[in-house]
Amino acid sequence: MAGSEFPRLDRDAALSVADLVRGCTFDDFLLTPQRSIVARRDPAAIDLSCRVSQRVALKRPIVSANMDTVTRAPMAIVQAEEGGIGIIDRGFRAGDIQPQVREVEIVKRTQHGVIGDPYSVAPDASVDEAAALMSRSRVGTLVVVDERRRLKGLLTERDLRFVRGEGLRVSDRMTPVDRLVVHTGAVSAEDAERIMVERKVKKLPLVSGDGTLLGLVTARDLVKQRRLPFATRDDQGRLRVGAAIGATGDYLERAAELLKAEVDVLVIDIAHGHSQVMDRAIGEVRKRFGDVELIAGNVGTAEGTKFLLDRGVNGIKVGIGPGGGCTTRMTTSFGVPQAQALVDCRLAIDESDVALIADGGIHRHGGLALALMFGGDCAMLGSAFAGTEEAPGEVVHKSVLLPESQKTVKVPFKVLRGMASLEAIRDRLDVEDADRVEIEALGAEGMEISVPARGSARTIVRDMLKHLCSSISYGGAASLRELRELFWKEPDRYLIKLSASSRRESYER
Ligand code: XMP
Repeated sequence: MAGSEFPRLDRDAALSVADLVRGCTFDDFLLTPQRSIVARRDPAAIDLSCRVSQRVALKRPIVSANMDTVTRAPMAIVQAEEGGIGIIDRGFRAGDIQPQVREVEIVKRTQHGVIGDPYSVAPDASVDEAAALMSRSRVGTLVVVDERRRLKGLLTERDLRFVRGEGLRVSDRMTPVDRLVVHTGAVSAEDAERIMVERKVKKLPLVSGDGTLLGLVTARDLVKQRRLPFATRDDQGRLRVGAAIGATGDYLERAAELLKAEVDVLVIDIAHGHSQVMDRAIGEVRKRFGDVELIAGNVGTAEGTKFLLDRGVNGIKVGIGPGGGCTTRMTTSFGVPQAQALVDCRLAIDESDVALIADGGIHRHGGLALALMFGGDCAMLGSAFAGTEEAPGEVVHKSVLLPESQKTVKVPFKVLRGMASLEAIRDRLDVEDADRVEIEALGAEGMEISVPARGSARTIVRDMLKHLCSSISYGGAASLRELRELFWKEPDRYLIKLSASSRRESYER
Protein backbone atom coordinates (compact mmCIF):
# COMPACT_ATOMS: atom_id res chain seq x y z
CA MET A 1 0.00 0.00 0.00
CA ALA A 2 1.44 3.37 -0.98
CA GLY A 3 2.68 5.40 1.96
CA SER A 4 2.35 2.53 4.41
CA GLU A 5 6.06 1.97 5.07
CA PHE A 6 8.11 3.71 7.73
CA PRO A 7 10.53 6.13 6.02
CA ARG A 8 14.22 5.25 5.85
CA LEU A 9 16.24 7.10 8.50
CA ASP A 10 19.23 9.31 8.01
CA ARG A 11 21.76 7.50 10.21
CA ASP A 12 23.38 10.59 11.75
CA ALA A 13 20.05 12.19 12.65
CA ALA A 14 18.86 8.86 14.03
CA LEU A 15 21.94 8.42 16.21
CA SER A 16 21.46 11.90 17.68
CA VAL A 17 17.82 11.04 18.49
CA ALA A 18 18.99 7.76 20.05
CA ASP A 19 21.30 9.77 22.31
CA LEU A 20 18.55 12.17 23.27
CA VAL A 21 15.98 9.49 24.13
CA ARG A 22 18.33 7.25 26.14
CA GLY A 23 16.61 6.51 29.44
CA CYS A 24 13.42 8.27 28.33
CA THR A 25 9.84 7.45 27.53
CA PHE A 26 6.83 9.21 25.98
CA ASP A 27 6.10 11.53 28.89
CA ASP A 28 9.65 12.89 28.81
CA PHE A 29 8.91 14.77 25.59
CA LEU A 30 6.72 17.36 23.97
CA LEU A 31 6.76 18.22 20.29
CA THR A 32 7.14 21.77 18.95
CA PRO A 33 4.05 22.85 16.97
CA GLN A 34 4.70 23.62 13.27
CA ARG A 35 2.68 25.54 10.70
CA SER A 36 -0.39 23.46 10.00
CA ILE A 37 -1.20 22.58 6.38
CA VAL A 38 -4.36 20.47 6.68
CA ALA A 39 -7.81 21.92 6.20
CA ARG A 40 -9.53 19.40 8.47
CA ARG A 41 -8.22 17.13 11.23
CA ASP A 42 -10.37 14.32 9.95
CA PRO A 43 -9.38 10.64 10.00
CA ALA A 44 -11.49 10.15 6.87
CA ALA A 45 -9.33 12.66 5.01
CA ILE A 46 -5.84 12.08 6.50
CA ASP A 47 -3.87 9.03 5.40
CA LEU A 48 -2.91 6.95 8.45
CA SER A 49 -1.94 3.82 6.54
CA CYS A 50 0.82 1.62 7.91
CA ARG A 51 1.64 -2.06 8.37
CA VAL A 52 1.38 -4.52 11.22
CA SER A 53 3.73 -6.94 9.48
CA GLN A 54 5.53 -7.12 6.16
CA ARG A 55 2.52 -8.23 4.12
CA VAL A 56 -0.40 -7.01 6.23
CA ALA A 57 -1.27 -3.37 5.71
CA LEU A 58 -3.56 -1.39 7.98
CA LYS A 59 -5.37 1.84 7.21
CA ARG A 60 -5.21 2.80 10.89
CA PRO A 61 -2.22 2.14 13.16
CA ILE A 62 -3.93 0.48 16.14
CA VAL A 63 -3.63 -3.14 17.29
CA SER A 64 -5.39 -4.55 20.34
CA ALA A 65 -3.14 -6.60 22.60
CA ASN A 66 -3.21 -10.38 22.91
CA MET A 67 -4.37 -10.32 26.52
CA ASP A 68 -7.20 -12.45 27.86
CA THR A 69 -8.93 -9.40 29.34
CA VAL A 70 -8.59 -7.42 26.10
CA THR A 71 -8.87 -9.29 22.79
CA ARG A 72 -11.33 -11.99 21.87
CA ALA A 73 -13.62 -11.92 18.82
CA PRO A 74 -15.77 -8.87 19.74
CA MET A 75 -12.67 -6.69 20.26
CA ALA A 76 -10.92 -8.05 17.17
CA ILE A 77 -14.02 -7.33 15.07
CA VAL A 78 -14.21 -3.70 16.22
CA GLN A 79 -10.49 -3.18 15.68
CA ALA A 80 -10.56 -4.61 12.15
CA GLU A 81 -13.75 -2.71 11.28
CA GLU A 82 -12.04 0.50 12.40
CA GLY A 83 -8.97 -0.15 10.25
CA GLY A 84 -6.63 -1.80 12.77
CA ILE A 85 -6.39 -5.43 13.88
CA GLY A 86 -6.88 -7.49 17.03
CA ILE A 87 -4.62 -10.31 18.18
CA ILE A 88 -6.56 -13.08 19.92
CA ASP A 89 -4.76 -14.11 23.09
CA ARG A 90 -3.64 -17.63 23.86
CA GLY A 91 -4.88 -17.45 27.44
CA PHE A 92 -6.88 -20.62 27.06
CA ARG A 93 -5.87 -23.71 28.95
CA ALA A 94 -2.90 -25.66 27.57
CA GLY A 95 -4.12 -28.18 25.01
CA ASP A 96 -7.39 -26.28 24.75
CA ILE A 97 -6.91 -24.97 21.26
CA GLN A 98 -10.42 -24.98 19.82
CA PRO A 99 -11.73 -22.06 21.92
CA GLN A 100 -9.07 -19.79 20.43
CA VAL A 101 -9.74 -21.17 16.94
CA ARG A 102 -13.45 -20.43 17.38
CA GLU A 103 -12.68 -16.78 18.16
CA VAL A 104 -10.71 -16.54 14.92
CA GLU A 105 -13.54 -18.21 13.01
CA ILE A 106 -16.08 -15.77 14.43
CA VAL A 107 -14.01 -12.82 13.19
CA LYS A 108 -13.45 -14.37 9.76
CA ARG A 109 -17.16 -15.06 9.38
CA THR A 110 -18.36 -11.70 10.65
CA GLN A 111 -18.66 -10.06 7.31
CA HIS A 112 -17.57 -10.93 3.90
CA GLY A 113 -17.15 -9.82 0.38
CA VAL A 114 -17.83 -13.22 -1.09
CA ILE A 115 -18.63 -15.94 1.45
CA GLY A 116 -16.51 -18.77 0.06
CA ASP A 117 -17.95 -21.51 2.25
CA PRO A 118 -21.49 -20.46 3.19
CA TYR A 119 -23.39 -22.70 5.62
CA SER A 120 -25.15 -25.30 3.49
CA VAL A 121 -27.71 -28.04 3.83
CA ALA A 122 -28.82 -30.98 1.68
CA PRO A 123 -32.22 -30.84 -0.12
CA ASP A 124 -33.40 -33.99 1.64
CA ALA A 125 -32.42 -32.80 5.14
CA SER A 126 -35.37 -32.19 7.45
CA VAL A 127 -36.50 -28.62 8.09
CA ASP A 128 -35.78 -29.25 11.79
CA GLU A 129 -32.14 -29.96 10.99
CA ALA A 130 -31.98 -26.78 8.90
CA ALA A 131 -33.56 -24.73 11.71
CA ALA A 132 -31.07 -26.16 14.19
CA LEU A 133 -28.15 -25.24 11.91
CA MET A 134 -29.53 -21.70 11.53
CA SER A 135 -29.77 -21.25 15.25
CA ARG A 136 -26.34 -22.80 15.94
CA SER A 137 -24.57 -20.72 13.32
CA ARG A 138 -26.74 -17.62 13.81
CA VAL A 139 -27.07 -17.45 10.02
CA GLY A 140 -30.47 -16.75 8.46
CA THR A 141 -29.82 -18.16 4.98
CA LEU A 142 -28.60 -21.63 4.11
CA VAL A 143 -27.44 -22.61 0.65
CA VAL A 144 -28.99 -25.87 -0.49
CA VAL A 145 -26.52 -28.13 -2.31
CA ASP A 146 -26.53 -31.76 -3.41
CA GLU A 147 -23.82 -34.26 -2.54
CA ARG A 148 -21.64 -32.89 -5.39
CA ARG A 149 -22.09 -29.32 -4.06
CA ARG A 150 -24.27 -28.31 -7.00
CA LEU A 151 -26.60 -25.46 -6.10
CA LYS A 152 -30.23 -26.55 -5.62
CA GLY A 153 -31.75 -23.55 -3.87
CA LEU A 154 -31.71 -21.15 -0.92
CA LEU A 155 -33.48 -21.63 2.39
CA THR A 156 -34.10 -18.61 4.62
CA GLU A 157 -35.53 -18.12 8.12
CA ARG A 158 -38.66 -16.76 6.45
CA ASP A 159 -39.17 -20.07 4.63
CA LEU A 160 -39.30 -21.82 8.01
CA ARG A 161 -41.48 -19.33 9.85
CA PHE A 162 -44.71 -20.93 11.19
CA VAL A 163 -43.67 -24.27 9.65
CA ARG A 164 -44.05 -27.42 11.72
CA GLY A 165 -41.22 -29.84 11.02
CA GLU A 166 -43.06 -33.17 10.78
CA GLY A 167 -42.04 -34.90 7.60
CA LEU A 168 -41.05 -31.71 5.80
CA ARG A 169 -37.81 -31.61 3.86
CA VAL A 170 -35.64 -28.63 2.94
CA SER A 171 -36.61 -29.11 -0.73
CA ASP A 172 -40.29 -28.57 0.25
CA ARG A 173 -39.60 -25.07 1.59
CA MET A 174 -36.55 -23.73 -0.27
CA THR A 175 -36.60 -21.34 -3.20
CA PRO A 176 -35.37 -23.62 -6.01
CA VAL A 177 -32.39 -22.64 -8.13
CA ASP A 178 -34.52 -21.97 -11.26
CA ARG A 179 -36.29 -19.15 -9.37
CA LEU A 180 -33.07 -17.59 -8.04
CA VAL A 181 -30.83 -14.93 -9.51
CA VAL A 182 -27.48 -16.71 -9.82
CA HIS A 183 -24.16 -15.47 -11.16
CA THR A 184 -21.76 -17.76 -13.01
CA GLY A 185 -18.08 -17.24 -12.13
CA ALA A 186 -16.31 -14.79 -9.83
CA VAL A 187 -17.71 -11.29 -9.32
CA SER A 188 -16.39 -7.98 -8.00
CA ALA A 189 -18.19 -6.17 -5.15
CA GLU A 190 -19.29 -3.44 -7.61
CA ASP A 191 -20.71 -5.92 -10.14
CA ALA A 192 -22.42 -7.92 -7.40
CA GLU A 193 -24.04 -4.74 -6.12
CA ARG A 194 -25.19 -3.74 -9.63
CA ILE A 195 -26.75 -7.16 -10.26
CA MET A 196 -28.49 -7.20 -6.87
CA VAL A 197 -29.91 -3.70 -7.37
CA GLU A 198 -31.08 -4.45 -10.94
CA ARG A 199 -32.65 -7.79 -10.07
CA LYS A 200 -33.90 -6.64 -6.63
CA VAL A 201 -32.40 -9.52 -4.66
CA LYS A 202 -30.57 -9.57 -1.35
CA LYS A 203 -28.57 -12.76 -1.92
CA LEU A 204 -26.49 -13.68 -4.94
CA PRO A 205 -25.14 -17.25 -5.12
CA LEU A 206 -22.09 -17.77 -7.34
CA VAL A 207 -21.68 -20.99 -9.31
CA SER A 208 -19.24 -22.49 -11.80
CA GLY A 209 -20.23 -23.50 -15.33
CA ASP A 210 -21.55 -26.89 -14.16
CA GLY A 211 -23.60 -25.36 -11.35
CA THR A 212 -21.17 -26.09 -8.49
CA LEU A 213 -21.46 -23.59 -5.65
CA LEU A 214 -18.55 -21.11 -5.58
CA GLY A 215 -19.83 -18.74 -2.92
CA LEU A 216 -22.51 -16.32 -1.80
CA VAL A 217 -22.71 -12.52 -1.78
CA THR A 218 -25.21 -10.83 0.53
CA ALA A 219 -26.56 -7.27 0.40
CA ARG A 220 -25.93 -6.92 4.13
CA ASP A 221 -22.22 -7.54 3.66
CA LEU A 222 -22.01 -5.11 0.75
CA VAL A 223 -23.71 -2.42 2.84
CA LYS A 224 -21.23 -3.06 5.67
CA GLN A 225 -18.30 -2.91 3.28
CA ARG A 226 -19.44 0.48 2.12
CA ARG A 227 -20.12 1.76 5.63
CA LEU A 228 -16.67 0.69 6.82
CA PRO A 229 -14.32 1.80 4.05
CA PHE A 230 -11.22 1.66 6.28
CA ALA A 231 -11.78 -1.86 7.57
CA THR A 232 -8.87 -4.29 7.48
CA ARG A 233 -9.88 -7.05 5.07
CA ASP A 234 -8.27 -10.03 3.42
CA ASP A 235 -8.46 -10.59 -0.33
CA GLN A 236 -11.88 -12.22 0.02
CA GLY A 237 -13.25 -9.17 1.85
CA ARG A 238 -13.26 -10.86 5.27
CA LEU A 239 -11.99 -9.05 8.35
CA ARG A 240 -8.40 -9.78 9.25
CA VAL A 241 -7.37 -11.13 12.64
CA GLY A 242 -4.18 -12.32 14.33
CA ALA A 243 -3.60 -14.88 17.07
CA ALA A 244 -0.88 -15.49 19.62
CA ILE A 245 0.66 -18.93 19.98
CA GLY A 246 3.49 -18.72 22.54
CA ALA A 247 6.78 -20.52 22.07
CA THR A 248 6.47 -23.73 24.08
CA GLY A 249 3.92 -26.44 24.86
CA ASP A 250 1.16 -26.79 22.27
CA TYR A 251 2.29 -23.83 20.13
CA LEU A 252 2.82 -25.80 16.91
CA GLU A 253 -0.47 -27.64 17.16
CA ARG A 254 -2.14 -24.33 17.99
CA ALA A 255 -0.52 -22.67 14.97
CA ALA A 256 -1.68 -25.51 12.70
CA GLU A 257 -5.31 -25.18 13.83
CA LEU A 258 -5.26 -21.37 13.66
CA LEU A 259 -3.88 -21.49 10.13
CA LYS A 260 -6.62 -23.93 9.16
CA ALA A 261 -9.10 -21.31 10.39
CA GLU A 262 -7.27 -18.88 8.08
CA VAL A 263 -5.84 -16.60 10.73
CA ASP A 264 -4.03 -13.73 8.98
CA VAL A 265 -0.99 -13.48 11.19
CA LEU A 266 0.58 -15.60 13.93
CA VAL A 267 2.28 -13.95 16.90
CA ILE A 268 4.94 -15.71 18.96
CA ASP A 269 4.57 -13.70 22.12
CA ILE A 270 6.91 -14.21 25.00
CA ALA A 271 8.12 -11.77 27.62
CA HIS A 272 11.76 -12.03 26.49
CA GLY A 273 11.87 -12.61 22.75
CA HIS A 274 15.65 -12.34 22.51
CA SER A 275 16.15 -15.89 23.71
CA GLN A 276 16.95 -19.50 22.91
CA VAL A 277 13.30 -20.41 23.35
CA MET A 278 12.35 -17.93 20.64
CA ASP A 279 15.12 -19.11 18.34
CA ARG A 280 13.77 -22.65 18.49
CA ALA A 281 10.13 -21.60 18.18
CA ILE A 282 10.67 -19.49 15.04
CA GLY A 283 12.75 -22.29 13.49
CA GLU A 284 10.02 -24.86 14.16
CA VAL A 285 7.21 -22.61 12.88
CA ARG A 286 9.13 -21.90 9.67
CA LYS A 287 9.96 -25.60 9.24
CA ARG A 288 6.36 -26.70 9.72
CA PHE A 289 4.43 -23.85 8.12
CA GLY A 290 6.87 -22.19 5.70
CA ASP A 291 6.32 -18.58 4.79
CA VAL A 292 3.30 -17.79 7.00
CA GLU A 293 2.97 -14.21 8.24
CA LEU A 294 4.78 -14.24 11.57
CA ILE A 295 5.26 -11.58 14.22
CA ALA A 296 7.58 -12.26 17.16
CA GLY A 297 8.44 -10.46 20.36
CA ASN A 298 8.98 -8.85 22.68
CA VAL A 299 12.34 -7.17 22.41
CA GLY A 300 13.59 -3.75 23.48
CA THR A 301 17.10 -3.52 22.05
CA ALA A 302 18.91 -3.27 18.71
CA GLU A 303 20.48 -6.69 19.35
CA GLY A 304 17.08 -8.24 20.05
CA THR A 305 15.68 -6.71 16.86
CA LYS A 306 18.58 -7.99 14.75
CA PHE A 307 18.22 -11.42 16.35
CA LEU A 308 14.58 -11.62 15.20
CA LEU A 309 15.34 -10.07 11.79
CA ASP A 310 18.03 -12.70 11.19
CA ARG A 311 15.50 -15.41 11.92
CA GLY A 312 13.19 -14.15 9.20
CA VAL A 313 10.12 -12.83 11.03
CA ASN A 314 7.70 -10.43 9.31
CA GLY A 315 6.99 -8.22 12.30
CA ILE A 316 8.66 -7.46 15.64
CA LYS A 317 6.93 -6.44 18.86
CA VAL A 318 8.89 -3.87 20.85
CA GLY A 319 8.33 -3.32 24.55
CA ILE A 320 10.01 -4.75 27.62
CA GLY A 321 8.02 -3.67 30.63
CA PRO A 322 6.06 -0.53 29.60
CA GLY A 323 2.64 -2.23 29.76
CA GLY A 324 -0.09 -1.10 32.13
CA GLY A 325 -0.58 -4.56 33.68
CA CYS A 326 3.12 -5.34 33.75
CA THR A 327 5.53 -5.62 36.68
CA THR A 328 8.63 -6.95 34.87
CA ARG A 329 10.71 -3.88 35.63
CA MET A 330 9.74 -3.92 39.28
CA THR A 331 10.32 -7.61 39.79
CA THR A 332 13.51 -7.98 37.70
CA SER A 333 14.99 -4.47 37.30
CA PHE A 334 15.29 -5.22 33.56
CA GLY A 335 13.56 -3.37 30.75
CA VAL A 336 14.05 -0.44 28.38
CA PRO A 337 12.13 2.85 28.55
CA GLN A 338 9.79 2.69 25.59
CA ALA A 339 10.97 5.78 23.65
CA GLN A 340 14.55 4.52 23.80
CA ALA A 341 13.48 0.99 22.83
CA LEU A 342 11.55 2.22 19.79
CA VAL A 343 14.36 4.40 18.47
CA ASP A 344 17.03 1.72 19.04
CA CYS A 345 14.90 -0.98 17.38
CA ARG A 346 14.00 1.32 14.46
CA LEU A 347 17.69 2.01 13.90
CA ALA A 348 18.39 -1.72 13.90
CA ILE A 349 15.66 -2.35 11.30
CA ASP A 350 17.70 -0.26 8.86
CA GLU A 351 16.79 -1.07 5.23
CA SER A 352 14.47 -3.96 6.06
CA ASP A 353 10.71 -3.62 5.58
CA VAL A 354 9.87 -5.84 8.56
CA ALA A 355 7.27 -3.98 10.67
CA LEU A 356 7.83 -2.80 14.24
CA ILE A 357 4.89 -2.84 16.61
CA ALA A 358 5.21 -0.39 19.51
CA ASP A 359 3.77 -2.54 22.28
CA GLY A 360 2.62 -1.01 25.55
CA GLY A 361 2.92 2.15 27.56
CA ILE A 362 0.42 4.31 25.65
CA HIS A 363 -1.67 5.60 28.52
CA ARG A 364 -2.76 8.94 27.08
CA HIS A 365 -3.86 9.47 23.48
CA GLY A 366 -0.88 11.70 22.68
CA GLY A 367 1.45 8.79 23.39
CA LEU A 368 0.25 7.17 20.16
CA ALA A 369 1.78 9.90 17.95
CA LEU A 370 5.10 9.63 19.79
CA ALA A 371 5.14 5.82 19.53
CA LEU A 372 4.52 6.07 15.77
CA MET A 373 7.15 8.78 15.28
CA PHE A 374 9.88 7.17 17.39
CA GLY A 375 9.73 3.86 15.56
CA GLY A 376 6.44 1.97 15.61
CA ASP A 377 4.87 1.10 12.26
CA CYS A 378 1.77 0.70 14.38
CA ALA A 379 1.01 0.51 18.10
CA MET A 380 -0.38 -2.25 20.28
CA LEU A 381 -2.58 -1.22 23.20
CA GLY A 382 -3.97 -3.21 26.08
CA SER A 383 -5.11 -1.19 29.08
CA ALA A 384 -6.50 1.57 26.84
CA PHE A 385 -9.24 -0.93 25.86
CA ALA A 386 -9.75 -2.56 29.25
CA GLY A 387 -13.21 -2.23 30.74
CA THR A 388 -14.88 -1.65 27.36
CA GLU A 389 -17.99 -3.53 26.22
CA GLU A 390 -15.89 -5.62 23.83
CA ALA A 391 -13.29 -6.61 26.43
CA PRO A 392 -13.86 -10.15 27.73
CA GLY A 393 -14.94 -10.66 31.32
CA GLU A 394 -17.88 -10.00 33.58
CA VAL A 395 -18.84 -6.61 34.93
CA VAL A 396 -18.60 -6.59 38.73
CA HIS A 397 -20.11 -3.88 40.89
CA LYS A 398 -17.90 -2.52 43.64
CA SER A 399 -18.78 -0.08 46.38
CA VAL A 400 -16.89 3.18 46.00
CA LEU A 401 -16.86 5.98 48.56
CA LEU A 402 -17.41 9.43 47.01
CA PRO A 403 -15.05 11.77 48.87
CA GLU A 404 -17.23 14.92 48.42
CA SER A 405 -20.49 13.50 49.72
CA GLN A 406 -19.11 10.59 51.77
CA LYS A 407 -21.78 8.47 50.07
CA THR A 408 -21.10 4.94 48.88
CA VAL A 409 -22.13 4.11 45.34
CA LYS A 410 -21.93 0.90 43.34
CA VAL A 411 -19.63 1.34 40.34
CA PRO A 412 -19.30 -1.24 37.52
CA PHE A 413 -15.77 -2.56 36.95
CA LYS A 414 -14.06 -5.05 34.65
CA VAL A 415 -10.74 -6.72 35.32
CA LEU A 416 -7.54 -6.06 33.39
CA ARG A 417 -4.73 -8.44 34.13
CA GLY A 418 -1.23 -8.83 32.83
CA MET A 419 -0.77 -12.06 30.91
CA ALA A 420 2.08 -12.90 33.26
CA SER A 421 0.01 -12.16 36.38
CA LEU A 422 -0.58 -14.93 38.91
CA GLU A 423 -4.25 -14.99 37.98
CA ALA A 424 -3.64 -15.36 34.23
CA ILE A 425 -0.95 -18.00 34.78
CA ARG A 426 -3.28 -19.92 37.08
CA ASP A 427 -6.02 -19.99 34.45
CA ARG A 428 -3.72 -20.89 31.60
CA LEU A 429 -2.00 -23.71 33.41
CA ASP A 430 -5.15 -25.17 34.86
CA VAL A 431 -3.61 -25.17 38.32
CA GLU A 432 -6.54 -23.99 40.40
CA ASP A 433 -5.62 -26.47 43.08
CA ALA A 434 -2.03 -25.33 43.39
CA ASP A 435 -1.42 -23.00 46.28
CA ARG A 436 -0.21 -19.43 45.91
CA VAL A 437 3.38 -20.24 46.88
CA GLU A 438 3.65 -22.86 44.13
CA ILE A 439 2.29 -20.46 41.54
CA GLU A 440 4.44 -17.62 42.79
CA ALA A 441 7.43 -19.87 42.20
CA LEU A 442 6.55 -19.67 38.49
CA GLY A 443 7.58 -16.00 38.65
CA ALA A 444 4.69 -13.64 37.94
CA GLU A 445 5.54 -10.46 36.02
CA GLY A 446 2.10 -8.93 35.82
CA MET A 447 -0.80 -7.81 37.97
CA GLU A 448 -4.58 -7.67 38.05
CA ILE A 449 -6.29 -4.26 38.12
CA SER A 450 -9.99 -3.29 38.26
CA VAL A 451 -10.93 -0.82 35.55
CA PRO A 452 -14.25 1.10 35.54
CA ALA A 453 -16.54 -0.36 32.89
CA ARG A 454 -17.04 2.05 30.00
CA GLY A 455 -18.59 2.16 26.55
CA SER A 456 -17.42 0.69 23.28
CA ALA A 457 -13.79 0.32 22.25
CA ARG A 458 -14.94 1.76 18.90
CA THR A 459 -15.42 5.18 20.52
CA ILE A 460 -11.95 4.99 22.07
CA VAL A 461 -10.34 4.06 18.74
CA ARG A 462 -12.16 6.87 16.95
CA ASP A 463 -11.17 9.42 19.60
CA MET A 464 -7.56 8.28 19.44
CA LEU A 465 -7.52 8.57 15.67
CA LYS A 466 -8.97 12.09 15.83
CA HIS A 467 -6.23 13.04 18.28
CA LEU A 468 -3.61 11.44 16.05
CA CYS A 469 -4.88 13.55 13.14
CA SER A 470 -4.56 16.62 15.38
CA SER A 471 -0.95 15.61 16.13
CA ILE A 472 -0.32 15.36 12.37
CA SER A 473 -1.81 18.81 11.90
CA TYR A 474 0.28 20.32 14.75
CA GLY A 475 3.32 18.63 13.22
CA GLY A 476 2.86 20.48 9.91
CA ALA A 477 2.18 17.28 7.97
CA ALA A 478 -0.71 15.97 5.89
CA SER A 479 -0.33 12.25 6.59
CA LEU A 480 1.21 9.89 9.13
CA ARG A 481 4.01 9.06 6.74
CA GLU A 482 4.75 12.74 6.15
CA LEU A 483 4.84 13.44 9.88
CA ARG A 484 7.45 10.70 10.31
CA GLU A 485 9.47 11.99 7.34
CA LEU A 486 9.50 15.56 8.64
CA PHE A 487 10.37 14.43 12.16
CA TRP A 488 13.28 12.21 11.14
CA LYS A 489 14.62 14.83 8.68
CA GLU A 490 14.92 17.46 11.43
CA PRO A 491 14.30 15.87 14.84
CA ASP A 492 15.66 18.96 16.61
CA ARG A 493 12.82 21.01 15.18
CA TYR A 494 10.36 18.76 17.00
CA LEU A 495 11.75 17.22 20.15
CA ILE A 496 11.59 19.09 23.43
CA LYS A 497 13.01 17.16 26.37
CA LEU A 498 11.06 18.09 29.46
CA SER A 499 12.23 19.18 32.88
CA ALA A 500 10.44 17.68 35.88
CA SER A 501 8.28 20.78 36.24
CA SER A 502 7.44 21.05 32.51
CA ARG A 503 6.46 17.37 32.61
CA ARG A 504 4.15 18.14 35.51
CA GLU A 505 2.75 21.14 33.62
CA SER A 506 2.18 18.95 30.53
CA TYR A 507 0.96 15.61 31.75
CA GLU A 508 -0.25 15.85 35.32
CA ARG A 509 -3.86 16.92 35.73
P1 XMP B 1 -0.62 -1.39 27.76
O1 XMP B 1 0.30 -0.37 28.37
O2 XMP B 1 -1.25 -0.89 26.51
O3 XMP B 1 0.36 -2.58 27.33
O4 XMP B 1 -1.58 -1.98 28.72
C1 XMP B 1 -0.08 -3.77 26.76
C2 XMP B 1 1.09 -4.73 26.67
O5 XMP B 1 1.56 -5.09 27.99
C3 XMP B 1 2.28 -6.32 27.88
N1 XMP B 1 1.85 -7.22 28.94
C4 XMP B 1 2.62 -7.63 29.95
N2 XMP B 1 3.91 -7.40 30.21
N3 XMP B 1 3.75 -8.74 32.16
C5 XMP B 1 4.49 -7.99 31.30
O6 XMP B 1 5.70 -7.82 31.52
C6 XMP B 1 2.43 -9.02 31.95
O7 XMP B 1 1.79 -9.70 32.75
C7 XMP B 1 1.85 -8.44 30.79
N4 XMP B 1 0.61 -8.52 30.24
C8 XMP B 1 0.64 -7.76 29.14
C9 XMP B 1 1.97 -6.90 26.52
O8 XMP B 1 3.09 -6.70 25.70
C10 XMP B 1 0.78 -6.08 26.06
O9 XMP B 1 0.64 -6.03 24.67
